[in-house]
Amino acid sequence: MEDLILVTGGAGFIGSNFILQWIPSESSRLLNLDKLTYAGNLNNLSAVAGHPRYRFEPGDIVDRKCLRGLFQHQQPRAIVHFAAESHVDRSIHGPDDFIHTNVNGTFNLLEETRAYWTGLAEADRTRFRFLHVSTDEVYGSLGPDDPAFSETTPYAPNSPYSASKAASDHLVRAYHHTYGLPVVTTNCSNNYGPCQFPEKLIPLMILNACAGKPLPVYGDGENVRDWLYVEDHCRALRTVLADGRVGETYNIGGRSERKNLEIVGDICRLLDELHPNDSGASYSRLVTFVKDRPGHDRRYAMDTRKIERELRWQPQETFESGLRKTVSWYLEHQDWVHDVTSGSYRQWMAKNYAQR
Ligand code: NAD
Ligand code: TYD
Repeated sequence: MEDLILVTGGAGFIGSNFILQWIPSESSRLLNLDKLTYAGNLNNLSAVAGHPRYRFEPGDIVDRKCLRGLFQHQQPRAIVHFAAESHVDRSIHGPDDFIHTNVNGTFNLLEETRAYWTGLAEADRTRFRFLHVSTDEVYGSLGPDDPAFSETTPYAPNSPYSASKAASDHLVRAYHHTYGLPVVTTNCSNNYGPCQFPEKLIPLMILNACAGKPLPVYGDGENVRDWLYVEDHCRALRTVLADGRVGETYNIGGRSERKNLEIVGDICRLLDELHPNDSGASYSRLVTFVKDRPGHDRRYAMDTRKIERELRWQPQETFESGLRKTVSWYLEHQDWVHDVTSGSYRQWMAKNYAQR
């Protein structure tokens, strides 16, 4: 076994932030396997592209031959599995890709991992880890006064996205219980930060505001999410990979519950300060209530006491400091924005917002 970790989906939002943090902080080499869907962007990784401990490999987690070849030739000591279709609205318009990648892809990855892991020497089998990166959305939706999701909250996924992630979590669990594969699963709340594809709430609102376009708030804007700055999530993943207990799941969150409307207001205020309109009018005039998302989960909140207690992890960023960094990042990276808001992005925006 080599001192190498295999990351799947490392060209996406969280995966690329993870790699950018890993390379300067850790000593193991890292191989990034990514299919480069619309959400994968190698520009996110330009800072490490030529680094001797980093390599990119184009490929699909559904493709077992590709996975087998990688395991044979690279002999990783761990897998950090990010690759997924990740956007709820897209899962509503077209669930097929979600089942294909999130369910069949995770299954194929588990099967090839199991074949590779079974053939390792005993000490290597013990040391090996499969870290599965999942979401709080598998737990369903909370009422306003319900306690936050804990690791023992029953699964109740409501969207094709969360159902496909729940299915993958169950497969990962079963591979531990049945075959003894040394897995750890993390369920994290909504992330935000640099390099997030602007189909998601925070970057979409920043870019729409800068372009003078409407800020489309679904329903009454009172839905609540628990927001975590992406670099805090990546630190949590490194901690879980190093010290998490095999077969366990860990909830990760920011203890930062916010209503969507509050977030859009915060973004408008930050832009008024950092990028004021020529006319002097506030960006908040662009807020537009639109038709709700079907099956829209009302509230997510994470009880993170387990990871705090066992692994001494805590977020370093507050929502206020993280949001300021994020708005500044988008304002300072116009080239990145220009690259990702090309033809296919415009098609998605037209499709998702046409009938709202
Ligand atoms: P993303 O959509 O930005 O990136 C996904 C990456 O996976 C892309 O680079 C894409 O090219 C790649 N990919 C997709 N299908 C693939 C396939 N078949 N084979 C290989 N690569 C493939 O997603 P993200 O926001 O970075 O999320 C990463 C992971 O974290 C996902 O598993 C997601 O469910 C989970 N997660 C995300 C959040 C969040 O707020 N974004 C929160 C909790 C958990
Ligand atoms: P999103 O970023 O899609 O994450 P998720 O659905 O996985 O939580 O959405 C976050 C919240 O913002 C969610 O309640 C839906 C809402 N939302 C809007 O109000 N308008 C939008 O244009 C988008 C994309 C999301």
